[in-house]
Amino acid sequence: VSTALRVGERVLLLDQKRRRYLVALREGGEFHSHAGFVAHELLIGQPEGAMVTSTRGAEYTALRPTLEDFVVEMPRGAQVIYPKDLAPICMLADIGPGVTVFESGVGSGALSMTMLRYGADIVGYELRDDFAARARNNVGEFLGQDALARYRVESRDSYAGIDPGDGPFDRVVLDLPEPWQVIPHAETVLRAGGLLVAYTPSITQAAQARAELRGRWIDARTLEVLHRTWHIEGQSVRPDHRMVAHTGFLTVARFLGQGRRRPDAAESRQGRGV
Ligand SMILES: C[S@@+](CC[C@H](N)C(=O)[O-])C[C@H]1O[C@@H](n2cnc3c(N)ncnc32)[C@H](O)[C@@H]1O
Repeated sequence: VSTALRVGERVLLLDQKRRRYLVALREGGEFHSHAGFVAHELLIGQPEGAMVTSTRGAEYTALRPTLEDFVVEMPRGAQVIYPKDLAPICMLADIGPGVTVFESGVGSGALSMTMLRYGADIVGYELRDDFAARARNNVGEFLGQDALARYRVESRDSYAGIDPGDGPFDRVVLDLPEPWQVIPHAETVLRAGGLLVAYTPSITQAAQARAELRGRWIDARTLEVLHRTWHIEGQSVRPDHRMVAHTGFLTVARFLGQGRRRPDAAESRQGRGV
């Protein structure tokens, strides 16, 4: 990473109230806010940490965005998974360099970007063309064009199946309304010992996914991540009054492999005779 801020890159401007603005630097550009504007020329060529003042006296500190900054501020269509859940998902799914992942839906690409950052190789199925295109743009913009070589997004419905030619995969990671519809397809492309992680806003979705994770799955767990920030100022040290009380539930399970069954898995899936 070069030290000077350049035309074409995104910069995070932090004001004195810690409000954050993501700005794409361009020749002749201006960043406008309630406090007048800052000409991009004042930022281009500056090192990170530079302070600039708007036409009406507001001070901003310029920094390159971290992945956490970018996923919160980036252009989005679908709701993104927030940083508090992104890192635990990568831990639960044991994402690392060269790990092959089937992901669906892709949405705005926040989870894709995080898994790519950890080194994964992803095939994603996303119903909406516009979301798929946005996810690719976001990945290219933040991680660079090289990352796109490890990221293929198809405009497809994952409830209808997963193309065997796209697999096999080490991991299946799901963030869509009915993950239980994808689980039978995951069983056709996941390697023995592979992991499935499903993110669901509602616990009834998690329960329905868990009901589908029988027979060939082991070690299923569902959890939520509670993230409480603290106010620390001199002698005033206490939890912040406000917190994000709920985002979603994380369900993880391990695949035993085709033709294997858990010893205690006596029950069969309704109507499917598995
Ligand atoms: C909440 S968003 C995913 C957000 C994404 N995880 C992120 O962090 O940016 C859910 C996505 O699933 C997609 N989706 C819903 N049903 C689908 C299906 N059957 N097959 C593929 N994608 C689907 C939606 O179009 C939407 O983009």
